[in-house]
This record gives sequence, structure tokens and C-alpha cells, in this order.
Amino acid sequence: MLSFTLASGDRLPALGLGTWKSAPGAVYAAVKEALAIGYRHIDCAPAYQNEPEVGKAVAEAIDSGMVARTDLWLTSKLWNDAHAPEQVQPALQKTLADLRVDFLDLYLIHWPVVFKPGVMFPRRGEDYISLDALPISLTWKALEDCVAQGLVRNIGVCNFSVRKLDTLCRQAAIRPAMNQIELHPYLQQGAMLEFCRENGIQVTAYSPLGSGDRPAGMKKSGEPTLLDNPVIQRVAAKHGVTPAQVLLAWGLSRKTVVIPKSVNPERMRQNLAAAQLGLDAQDVADIATLDRGYRFVDGSFFAGPGSPYTLEQLWDE
Ligand code: A2P
Repeated sequence: MLSFTLASGDRLPALGLGTWKSAPGAVYAAVKEALAIGYRHIDCAPAYQNEPEVGKAVAEAIDSGMVARTDLWLTSKLWNDAHAPEQVQPALQKTLADLRVDFLDLYLIHWPVVFKPGVMFPRRGEDYISLDALPISLTWKALEDCVAQGLVRNIGVCNFSVRKLDTLCRQAAIRPAMNQIELHPYLQQGAMLEFCRENGIQVTAYSPLGSGDRPAGMKKSGEPTLLDNPVIQRVAAKHGVTPAQVLLAWGLSRKTVVIPKSVNPERMRQNLAAAQLGLDAQDVADIATLDRGYRFVDGSFFAGPGSPYTLEQLWDE
């Protein structure tokens, strides 16, 4: 299995199973199947509201000897309502209990957005706390303490702009090991990849397939689809593979971790096999032309009326 090395020296499998939108009832079987066919990296979050089921599958796989904990990479994320330093460890402990493990390989701040404690999804302005009132640097210090206590091996962030990452790097005792961001041919993130390369930060690409199963409320009308893109389809036909495999191989070729979500055994197999596909220079040049700065997950759900957050402030664009 292809793997990338983090600043700590830990190696993480380059292709992991995404679990966002994997419904309870389906994700248990999906994780069991994924581990059986060779996935060794599961990307989780309490916000996905399925960690107890993921944990059941993980525990059974470990107990049955299918996989050793040390051969498995588990990532989870701190939700927006637990940024206050005294809330970080309880949130992490809940995730550890749900996943039925005593440490995480990687723990990420899910968004540079803060909610009041207990708010899962905000409905009004009072549900938010601004970053001026509760800066990331305080949350980060609490994550560093979790490393010192052996609860997590690596820490990082998600959805951070270059500007926010740069600020955090200057404040941190332990530099962020990872930025997990939306990344695919419509959002190629060139400047971010360059910044991360220069600063020893690994990038994970989420929604590498375009996240077609997002809830309707998160979709814009007339948005482009990746799997149907003619260039992607042409490259797939040329290599005798599927469009999804092209998208994943493209992400891996740029040295980004990819975490395609699937609950379908055949598609999980197909996605894992994408690591064997090599794209040629012409494919890479053709796919480079598709960049259009398009976000499927644009964060507008955090920028509603009364919110202290705006999209300009979120992405620093
Ligand atoms: P399913 O879970 O039924 O396989 P993303 O990882 O970008 O969020 O995309 C997830 C979406 O892509 C889900 O709807 C998932 O459906 C679908 N998907 C996953 N793997 C493939 C594949 N190999 N081909 C087509 N669609 C896929």
C-alpha cells in the first residue's frame, strides 16, 4: 500500500476510506468490508454521526485478528462546538470511546469555525463564537497537550486557508502535520500544495470524487459533476479504468492522500485499486486544464444570517 510520511516520521496509507455521509446502518458493513479487502486508513469525525458504528467494525476486525491496531490508521476531528481548551479532551475521549481505541493516529480541527458548546449545526447567530473570542491558537495548544498525553500521535487541521495555516505554524509548538481540504480537478489547490510542501505539511484531498451524495441543501443548482467530465472519461477509457479511478490516481500522483467515501463493496475495491494506476504526462496536462476554483463544499452553511463568519473570511479569498 502506497504511504506518505508525516513530519513525525509516521507513515499513513495514502488511500483511506471516507465515512462522511455513510449512514449508520451501512457504515458498519462498509468498514468491515474495507478492512477485509485491504484498506488500512479510515477517516472519521463525530460530525458524521456514525463513529460508534465505525468503532464496532474496527473493534471486531482487531479482536478477530484481521488487522492489528498498529497497522491501522485512524483519523478523527474535533467538532466546532468543542474548541474551548477545556472541551478538547472530553471531545477526544468521546471519539476514542466511540471508536473503541485508546489513541488516534491523527486528530484534526474540523473547521476554523467555532460554535457554542452542544451546537451540532447552528441555526442562529447566537450559536456561533467568533475566532476573535476563541482563537485557534488556544484550541491548538489543547491539541498539543493531547499529543503529550499519548492520546493522539499527530495533529492537524481541515479547511484552513494558506493564511490561517501560516499563522498557526508561527504560533505552534507542534506544527500542523496535515491540512485536509477539498481537492479535485475542479479545485486543484496549487498554491496550497506549494505552501504545504515548503512547510512539511501533508495534504489530504476530501471529496475527491465530487461528493455527489451530499444532502440536497448543500448542492447548488447546475453544479458540475466530476465523474461525468468528458476529459476524465476520456482518460479513463484510454486506460481501461473508471472515472473514479482516474480521479483518485490523479490525487495520489500529486502526493495528496485521498479518502473516497463508499459503502459499496465493488466501488470500495475499485477505489483501492486506483493506487495501481499510473497517469502519463498527457493525462496530467489534460486534467490540469479543468481547474476552475470550484468548491462543492463551500462553507456557506456557516455564513448564514447573524453568523460572524463570511465566506471571504473563511477562505481568505
Ligand atoms: P457509494 O457510497 O454508493 O459508493 P466523495 O468521496 O467525493 O465524497 O464521493 C462519494 C460519492 O461517490 C458517493 O455517492 C459514493 O457512492 C460515490 N462513489 C464512491 N466510489 C465510487 C466509484 N468508484 N464510482 C462511482 N461513484 C463512486
